[in-house]
Amino acid sequence: MKKVLVINSSARALRSHSRKLTEVFIDHWKTIHTDPIINFRELGSTDVPHINENWIAAAFKPAAARSEEEIEALKTSDTYISELREADVIVLASPMYNWSIPSALKAYIDQVLRVNETWKFNPANMQNPYIGLLENKTLFLLLSRGAQGYEKGEYNEHMNFQSNYLKTVFNIIGISNIHVIAINGESFAPEDFKKSIDTSHQNIKDLIEMELAHIVLEN
Ligand SMILES: Cc1cc2nc3c(=O)[nH]c(=O)nc-3n(C[C@H](O)[C@H](O)[C@H](O)COP(=O)(O)O)c2cc1C
Repeated sequence: MKKVLVINSSARALRSHSRKLTEVFIDHWKTIHTDPIINFRELGSTDVPHINENWIAAAFKPAAARSEEEIEALKTSDTYISELREADVIVLASPMYNWSIPSALKAYIDQVLRVNETWKFNPANMQNPYIGLLENKTLFLLLSRGAQGYEKGEYNEHMNFQSNYLKTVFNIIGISNIHVIAINGESFAPEDFKKSIDTSHQNIKDLIEMELAHIVLEN
């Protein structure tokens, strides 16, 4: 049974469109799996700790050499990383804030990109010295934006520090099977936004079916 981890990062609760996308995902997943294993990590309405001096000192030294204080500083990171390790499918919902991601999600990323835990250094390739340590995972990025034109070749592509950034960091920790579903235009183009919501719901369902078809073929 594939385990799912759903991560929400919108500061909004009830009015959040990215959260709604995770609900669509979960509802469809449940129609296919009778006894699904779905865990949740809430970022948008909680205080995600920022990494600090103790965290950095601890992360870059062998576990046996860490002080009590340093071990404590890594506790949140340990929890987040073990949740990621356990998951086969990660569903990450993110609004675009200021052309990037919510700061809570950035703080989370700083907690989970950890040397010798989610990536390791490869001195043999100085142009790409990262080896990802999380294997065999699928990531669904469910994104919401107020404006439009952020895709490849479009007029706002150069302002997109959301999906490009998220794909890059998850690639670095070994997750390369990534599906991006974005809804665009909430702030400026309500008609287009409505259409993109309808399309996204169908895309989420189609991608779940496609992933499950792969799983069956691989087994
Ligand atoms: C603080 C803040 C900053 C935002 N910055 C951008 C932005 O840079 N570009 C954009 O297209 N939309 C921006 N938006 C609009 C959101 O991306 C949009 O409302 C999205 O649907 C929010 O996701 P949610 O519904 O899950 O909360 C911003 C919204 C907020 C609240």
